[in-house]
This record gives sequence, structure tokens and C-alpha cells, in this order.
Amino acid sequence: MINKCSPWYAYALQTRPVSGEPSTLTARLEWGTYPGIGPGAEVLGRALRGRRILELGCGQGQNAAYLAGSHRALVTAIDLIDLQIQYARDRYGDVPGLTLLACDALRYLRQTSTTFDIVYSVFGVVGLAEPGQLLACVARRLRPHGIVAFSVPHPRRTGVAASDGPQPRHSMFRLPDGRCRSVPRWELDIPGWRRVLAQAGLRVTSVTELEHPGRSHPTALMIVARRI
Ligand SMILES: C[S@@+](CC[C@H](N)C(=O)[O-])C[C@H]1O[C@@H](n2cnc3c(N)ncnc32)[C@H](O)[C@@H]1O
Repeated sequence: MINKCSPWYAYALQTRPVSGEPSTLTARLEWGTYPGIGPGAEVLGRALRGRRILELGCGQGQNAAYLAGSHRALVTAIDLIDLQIQYARDRYGDVPGLTLLACDALRYLRQTSTTFDIVYSVFGVVGLAEPGQLLACVARRLRPHGIVAFSVPHPRRTGVAASDGPQPRHSMFRLPDGRCRSVPRWELDIPGWRRVLAQAGLRVTSVTELEHPGRSHPTALMIVARRI
């Protein structure tokens, strides 16, 4: 069902791909908002061919298409907003091994019986849903020693410290038309993410703070963990 009141619907409307734009695969998996900064797909493991991978909050599907198309992984990519999935299907619908679904992430995780080797999210659902609940659901759908990897806007990106409390804070994001919309976002610091991942049975294996050369604060936080 389309939720036209959702800020993510407005975001989808305003980030419509230019029609006629060639649907080539991207050159790498991007974890941040600035291309070419930080690690790529190698954090998900060396051999991705045939791996079952789930992306939560895939937007227009460029990263999922890259993993399916360039690495021959079997990727399921979901997004809350069916307009985003429509764009993704228009651009990448013919990429073998890629399944695109419009669904709420928690709902999907609770309903599916598929076990994944890897679950990842790029500025997607992690941080937008209550982390304890979301990560417990992710852990249940991961095989033992499976990988979860995600990037979130850095909690100190504005120079203000993370909230790290049980409540989300209202995080503003600017739409392409210049208007700001607020979304509830759980902005944990690194110990906070470690704690909530451990509670879900996930052990952190790497933490990367992505820095953009022009900025005085890190812009994104990227965490990789394994199911124990
Ligand atoms: C900032 S965008 C990032 C999109 C994409 N990962 C990228 O890097 O281009 C966040 C995406 O998460 C999706 N999203 C937000 N809440 C969600 C939920 N509960 N379940 C699934 N997708 C969700 C939004 O619709 C949006 O497409």
C-alpha cells in the first residue's frame, strides 16, 4: 500500500530517475552518500557468487543490482515505498538473481522463512526502526556466522553528540526541492550499536567512520557484525 504521507514517499517522488537514463550497473557498492569513499562490497566477504543476500531499504536498487549483476549473488532487495521499487524494476528488473519487493522491513523479516548469508542496509532501515527489535529479527533470518552490515548517518555529523537513548530523535533531512522533513531516527554511538548488536546475538567485526574530505565531522558510520 502506498503511504503518500510518508517522507520517504516525498523522497521517492523527488528522486525519480531521469527517464531514458541508461540502466548500467554501478562500479562498486557505496556505503556513504559520497561516491568512492570507504570500503566496497569486500566487507561482505570475498566470494559472493550464489550467496543469499537481503537489502533493507534499497531505494532505487543500485547496490542490490550491483551485487546481483557483478558478483552473481542472489539478492532480495526491499523498500517500504513501492514507487522506489517501480524505479528499481524499470532500471534493473532484468538483472539475473535480483528480486525487488515493496514491503516494510520488519514485516518482511517476520514473515519470510528464507535464511540469508548476508543482510545489509545502506542509509536504509537500520536507525529508522527500533534497533533492538530490528536486529533481533535480522539475526533470526541470518545463518550462523552470517554477516550483517549497515551504514547510517554519523551520529556526530553535525558536531552534536549521539542521543543513544531508548527514544529516537527527530532527524531532519532535506529533500531535493529544499524542504526539510523529519523522521524518527535512533542515532546510537559506537558503544550503543555494539551493545544492541550483542543483545541480538551479533558480534561486531569492524567499525568504519566515513570521512568526506570537505567536512569537519565524519559523515557516515559503517558497522559489520556476524551472527554468533
Ligand atoms: C535514504 S534512503 C536510502 C536508499 C538506498 N539504500 C540508497 O542508498 O540509495 C532510505 C530508504 O529506506 C526506505 N525505508 C524507510 N523505512 C523503511 C522500512 N520500514 N522498510 C523498508 N524500507 C524503508 C525508504 O523508502 C528509502 O528508500
